[in-house]
Order: sequence, then structure tokens, then C-alpha cells
Amino acid sequence: MSEATLDIKNISKGFGEFWSREEIILDFSLTVHAGELLVLVGPSGCGKSTLVNLVAGFDRPDTGKILLNNKEITSPGHDRMVVFQETALIPWQTTVQNVMFGPLLRGESREKILEEANRLLDKVGLGEFKEKFPIQLSGGMQRRAELARAMINHPDLMIMDEPFRGLDAMSRELMQEFFVRLFEETGRTNLFVTSEIDEAIFLADRLVVLSNRPTSVRKTIEIKLPRPRDFLMLRETEAYEYKKEAMELLHEEAIKSFKTSGDRRDFLTAVSKKTG
Ligand SMILES: Nc1ncnc2c1ncn2[C@@H]1O[C@H](COP(=O)(O)OP(=O)(O)OP(=O)(O)O)[C@@H](O)[C@H]1O
Ligand SMILES: [Mg+2]
Repeated sequence: MSEATLDIKNISKGFGEFWSREEIILDFSLTVHAGELLVLVGPSGCGKSTLVNLVAGFDRPDTGKILLNNKEITSPGHDRMVVFQETALIPWQTTVQNVMFGPLLRGESREKILEEANRLLDKVGLGEFKEKFPIQLSGGMQRRAELARAMINHPDLMIMDEPFRGLDAMSRELMQEFFVRLFEETGRTNLFVTSEIDEAIFLADRLVVLSNRPTSVRKTIEIKLPRPRDFLMLRETEAYEYKKEAMELLHEEAIKSFKTSGDRRDFLTAVSKKTG
């Protein structure tokens, strides 16, 4: 079980100069507890990836602080691993070479790393595909290779930005099931971004609904479904209640991003006037 805690304290971030400046994140605070899987959902373009970049250390907030284990994040580091939607596998390296890449670069012993890479690839079900190149792997397999590549660094925090987006429905469901098992086994602190409510509820310990831009926490919902999770739980009334609440909030925030008054009826009236 991971002991790492992430503390995001009153951060703000904007882009552009003076007149064209736009605030993307405003006075945003959030704690991800040790061993917790915290899922963020928010309207498209609200600033989720901007937040991921700040936590990863690829960019700095304008104000506020982000702390991992009480230490301020100022640059990228292998204590945080990010898995994106786009594959970052190196095309001319085999799966096992891809997994070994980071630790080898840091000068760790090849023999030890090879053993660990083989173990992780077996764990993510790619035992038969170690010598294949990324192009020879299906979308789901590539995502699992990415997971192994992140896990070999033993990060304190896993950051996942819509990692299963773009997969077909069946592969996505299998990845969710696979990933939830992996999480339940390793218990690593995880900040997970998705735009899929069912995925969010299935995975999350806590679900955070983000507001429209400039984004901040709209509501935190504790998902009390027991672990280990299985898909049938999503059919239970409890899960349905979570979904209803999160969808209503998301819908309100998405409407705001359409630059209407934010009132649902105004928006619907506007639509019906246009279409009708
Ligand atoms: N480096 C940058 N320079 C200027 N604007 C940026 C930069 N990065 C992000 N933005 C702007 O910040 C806003 C939020 O973008 P971001 O990618 O964080 O949203 P998102 O919530 O991840 O969206 P999606 O759901 O589509 O993935 C967008 O309007 C985007 O144009
Ligand atoms: Mg994004």
C-alpha cells in the first residue's frame, strides 16, 4: 500500500498576456490520500490536462503549491508517472525494451531491470508479447504496456489522463476491469482523469466533479461501493444514485461552457428556439 499523499493547495493557472489572458484553474485545492484512487471528471476543456501537467511537474502554477509527501513539486520526477491517452511507447523498441527504458536511462542494473520488466509484463498479461513491437500490439495491449512501463519506476503517484479514451467499448471495459484489479492489488495513490461517468464510478474511491473553466472543485462524492469491484455493482441503486448526481452536476457545468447563463431551462429554451 502506497503512503504517498498529494496536496494541491490553492493553485491558479492561466494562459496568455493581459487582454487575452484566460484563467483556467482558479483557487483549486484537493488532497489525494495515501493509497486512494481519486477520479476527476469535468466538462471538456475545463482544465483537466492543465492540472495533470502541473501535478506531473511539466508546468508550474501561477499561485499556490502542489506537494507530494510534503515536498513541493517543481519539475518532473520518476516519483510521478503519467499515462496519457496517446501512446508514448517507442516504436522501434520491443515491448520489454520499452518497459526497461526509464530505469536503464537512470543507470540501474540491466539484469535486475530485465527481471522486473518480465515480471510486470506477465502481470499485465503481455507475457507472450515481450519481443513484439508496439505496432504489433492491439490498443488495449499498448495501454497495458504503458502501465507496466510506468509501474517499473515504482512511482509514489500514478497520474492517468483519460488513459482508455479511444478504445472500442469492449476493450475499454476489459481495461477498466483489469486496471481496477491492479489497483486493488497494489494500492498505489492514483489521480485518474476521465470523461466517462460509469468508468469514474467503477474505479473511484472518491469522485471529484470539476466546474467549468476556470475550474475548481464543484463536488466530491465518496463512492462507497465495496472492493473488489465488479461491473454488476454498476447496476445497483447506490451506483445509479452516484451516477445521477454526477451527471446532473456535469451537465450544469457543460452548459456553462456553452456560455449561456448556466440555467438548464434557459439552455434548453435556447436550443428549442434554434431547432424549432
Ligand atoms: N499551454 C497552453 N497555452 C495556452 N492555452 C492552453 C495551454 N494549455 C491549455 N490551454 C487552454 O486551457 C484550456 C483547458 O485545456 P485542457 O487541455 O486542460 O482541458 P481538458 O479539461 O483536459 O479538456 P479535454 O476534456 O478536451 O481533454 C483550453 O482552453 C486550452 O486551450
Ligand atoms: Mg484533457
